[in-house]
Amino acid sequence: MADTASLRERNATFWAGAAAGWIRHADRQDEVGRPLGAPAMERLAARPAERILDVGCGCGGTTAELAAAVGETGAAVGVDIAEAMVTAARQRFPTDRYPGIQFRLADIETLDVVPGAPFDAAFSRMTLMLLADPVAGCTTIRRSLRPGGRLAATVFRDGSVNPWLSAAMLGAAPHLGPLPPLPVGDEPGPFSFADPARLMRVLTVAGFTAVTITPCDVSLDASEDADAVAEWLIEVGPAGAAYRTAPLAAQASARAGAVRLLDRFREPGVGYRLPAGLWLVTANAAGADNAPAAAPTHHHPQPRQDENR
Ligand SMILES: C[S@@+](CC[C@H](N)C(=O)[O-])C[C@H]1O[C@@H](n2cnc3c(N)ncnc32)[C@H](O)[C@@H]1O
Repeated sequence: MADTASLRERNATFWAGAAAGWIRHADRQDEVGRPLGAPAMERLAARPAERILDVGCGCGGTTAELAAAVGETGAAVGVDIAEAMVTAARQRFPTDRYPGIQFRLADIETLDVVPGAPFDAAFSRMTLMLLADPVAGCTTIRRSLRPGGRLAATVFRDGSVNPWLSAAMLGAAPHLGPLPPLPVGDEPGPFSFADPARLMRVLTVAGFTAVTITPCDVSLDASEDADAVAEWLIEVGPAGAAYRTAPLAAQASARAGAVRLLDRFREPGVGYRLPAGLWLVTANAAGADNAPAAAPTHHHPQPRQDENR
């Protein structure tokens, strides 16, 4: 397994390369991808005047939803490691229309606390399993919450309950250049929290209490436009960067390959129904070191924190 410094670098490089595809499909991601975060959004139940952190906010759709819930007297702060996505989020959701919204470029793993802490609650959709050092990232989240502050997040369960993800990649891959390395063992990737015991360990070592991990099955319902759905799933997946730099003919073949493997999720006359298996995670922050530091400090590269402590 790669060391933490290389995993972090791999992660930052991957998301810098993936950003263009995520930006291009941001509206679709907000609309069709909404069920991926809805269980956590509902459980979090953000209230007017609260201060909420959105970890791995991408192009900002969920941060905007949180900003609407907390209103003018609250705050919704989205943090993401990909500069282009943070820029896109700021453009999509400007402060004159979304008072209290802020987007920050940061690696959640290397901050002591997120600027703007303490927060009443933290939300995250489909990000925690991608962290190079999830204990470090979750510890930052916990330290950024006020004592008793709450966390609600979603992550994928395993690949067998999210079959469309591999279908899109396997259909496209033969037509594209080299793809990023597939995760080995518990390296960051969509299914690195497939085992709920690992997720429980990570959150517990990070200092969270009252951790609950509940399976949720949702459906991503997309239009019947096969080419558009294939392109969306390729571009937000591991083959996204290779797809964008491929010649047009290879892109068309990649889409056709993905369309073929995704066909089993298409209901003629209705559209695509992509079944997604998630863990809904909730937890509370506790502990004496919750108080925010005066200013965020950056750690030097360090070994991955031991989740078995
Ligand atoms: C699968 S995407 C999900 C984006 C968004 N939450 C959504 O559901 O549309 C994961 C996001 O986490 C961000 N990310 C990955 N590692 C991160 C880190 N260490 N710190 C902050 N953001 C990170 C990526 O840039 C990406 O935007």
